[in-house]
Amino acid sequence: MSVSSMNDMEAKSSERVIEVREFEASKDCLGVEDVERRCEVGPSGALSLFTDLLGDPICRVRHSPAFLMLVAEIGEEKEIVGMIRGCIKTVTCGKKLYRNGKNNKQPLPVFTKLAYILGLRVSPSHRRMGIGLKLVEKMEEWFRENGAEYSYIATESDNFASVKLFTNKCGYSKFRTPSILVNPVFAHRVNVSNRVTILKLGPNDAEYLYRRRFSTTEFFPRDIDSILNNKLSLGTFLAVPRGSHNADSWPGSDLFLLDPPESWAVLSVWNCKDVFKLEVRGASRVRRTLAKTTRVVDKALPFLKLPSVPEVFRPFGFHFLYGVGGEGPRADKMVKALCRHAHNFAKESGCSVVATEVASREPLRFGIPHWKTLSCAEDLWCIKRLGEDYSDGSVGDWTKSPPDLSIFVDPREF
Ligand SMILES: CC(C)(COP(=O)(O)OP(=O)(O)OC[C@H]1O[C@@H](n2cnc3c(N)ncnc32)[C@H](O)[C@@H]1OP(=O)(O)O)[C@@H](O)C(=O)NCCC(=O)NCCS
Repeated sequence: MSVSSMNDMEAKSSERVIEVREFEASKDCLGVEDVERRCEVGPSGALSLFTDLLGDPICRVRHSPAFLMLVAEIGEEKEIVGMIRGCIKTVTCGKKLYRNGKNNKQPLPVFTKLAYILGLRVSPSHRRMGIGLKLVEKMEEWFRENGAEYSYIATESDNFASVKLFTNKCGYSKFRTPSILVNPVFAHRVNVSNRVTILKLGPNDAEYLYRRRFSTTEFFPRDIDSILNNKLSLGTFLAVPRGSHNADSWPGSDLFLLDPPESWAVLSVWNCKDVFKLEVRGASRVRRTLAKTTRVVDKALPFLKLPSVPEVFRPFGFHFLYGVGGEGPRADKMVKALCRHAHNFAKESGCSVVATEVASREPLRFGIPHWKTLSCAEDLWCIKRLGEDYSDGSVGDWTKSPPDLSIFVDPREF
């Protein structure tokens, strides 16, 4: 092909109009799925992580209080070449001290309206044409119209294109670097410490406990009740030292918190399995066969407690642990017992892994069992202030605040 005809083609493609509009389920599903298929997002290297949205491209935002999905289409044929999802909710961005009595100061949460961008994809054949930028800008327009004060995104720190797009072009700054901890679900059940009792809390008890103890944690969602009451929320579990409480003597969260045991911990389980499936692609046949062999042996001889490799090379589901918290010197041990309980629950539900996400300096992370090879030590969260005229008072500009020890990761956005 001559240089002049190539130049003609380039000119023609750059002339093709790109239009960004709201996603319409009735006509866009196939086009969106096609782009999704071509964008296997994953850590660099031979393996990639593919997400199957089970025919519902909007599934990863639809449980948030307000959400929107946009698509970018190109040319007269209106081919879909990119998409973006976004949602808005109210979360804690800091705390202030409230004087409660003469010498008693109580921390209270400061809330802000926060937007979140996820699932940004541009077809590989249409990259570096400004489509990603256009999608982000249109989404931010909707965020502003709906009163969002900040917007944030999460991306792998080695996703160069995404980090550059947000930090260089869109005005985001690097904010937090939590860790995604992923533990395999073995073919055998794991033992839960017999020094710990695990109680299942109803949504009202769970809400009371979370609001009283964790509402000042960064990113705590003000609508925690709607998360706990969502059908995807499979339960909240509390670990206490054996002998301190049991299901029959449970006094309710209010009385429990008036006189808690020295150490306790809590977490909730979210069913991601019914929302989307993941699949690790690109593994060699040898690797897959080895993994399968460990599982077959583990299933046949469960008493050996073999740490078998879960099924991740076919579409698999997982549970997400959110609201991981606790108090006292043995809180990490309590969290460990809860995670082991969650493992057995996930096994019964047919999940391949259990995942959670915690702040980089979270003290309880040492109690969370995980495999390094499946986990992501540094998930990069970037943030942007959408307007300058917000009065976030005592907190000031959240984007400049130092990280806390803990964060609350909303399961609806994982
Ligand atoms: C990240 C992604 C959405 C960017 O889409 P895009 O349409 O190619 O981006 P744009 O053309 O709008 O790029 C805008 C700016 O981002 C930066 N950028 C985008 N891709 C880049 C790359 N591969 N390398 C370096 N910088 C890049 C540049 O600053 C670019 O401006 P420039 O072209 O003037 O230099 C796209 O690469 C993609 O879909 N990747 C796979 C999915 C993914 O990683 N999504 C993000 C997860 S949140």
